[in-house]
Amino acid sequence: TVKGVIFDLDGVLTDTAEDHYQAWQMLADRHGMAFDRETNHQLKGVDRAGSLRLILDHAGAEVDAATFDAMLAEKNDLYRARLAGYSPANLFSGVRDLFAGCRAAGLKIGLASASRNAPDVVRLLGIADEFDFVADAGAVPNAKPAPDIFLACAAGMGLSPEDCIGVEDARAGVSAIHAAGMVAIGIGSEEALPDADLNVPAIGDLSVGRILSSERETAA
Ligand code: BG6
Ligand code: MG
Repeated sequence: TVKGVIFDLDGVLTDTAEDHYQAWQMLADRHGMAFDRETNHQLKGVDRAGSLRLILDHAGAEVDAATFDAMLAEKNDLYRARLAGYSPANLFSGVRDLFAGCRAAGLKIGLASASRNAPDVVRLLGIADEFDFVADAGAVPNAKPAPDIFLACAAGMGLSPEDCIGVEDARAGVSAIHAAGMVAIGIGSEEALPDADLNVPAIGDLSVGRILSSERETAA
């Protein structure tokens, strides 16, 4: 039985996935590293340091530890500059109705984002008070695709993982949800997220009815 829904943030509740991409692209350009939107797909859901490692690998570049840390800080500054203009208008349409539907159905709502900026982003979006629990990416040992953050979120809501459903826009995220033993709803095409149990094009296409039936279909 579904008792909770655990949402990813970037690319699921708001378009910060695009801002992460733009910030990485700017960093790569500044440092003369080859990077593009195509390569960025592999970065979705991946934590900050893991993303930079992938970018360096892809560009065939190597840096020392101090430069690596400076690049992480530089990217975060570029990203946070883009966040400055965020307001509740940046919440994807349909999110408020979906949350209200979850509440009405007695479901708890959790957040499991890899982003250290997640608490600030949900505040800017005006939804910080909507969550029963916001998992802390800095407090879990292993990043997505490991299940840690989804397990921490379920535990924080007082639920067992099998009673939770995860919602993700990234492959690493869908893997993390499955590794946690949860049903995974993918925001994006089957081509983009082939492993999801249910695909919807956008969060606005998701209803509490579809969430509840996705579990029944998977169990059948
Ligand atoms: C994930 C995003 O949610 O958070 C990634 O999909 C991002 O693109 C990661 O790199 C880490 O975010 P932050 O804000 O901690 O750099
Ligand atoms: Mg995401």
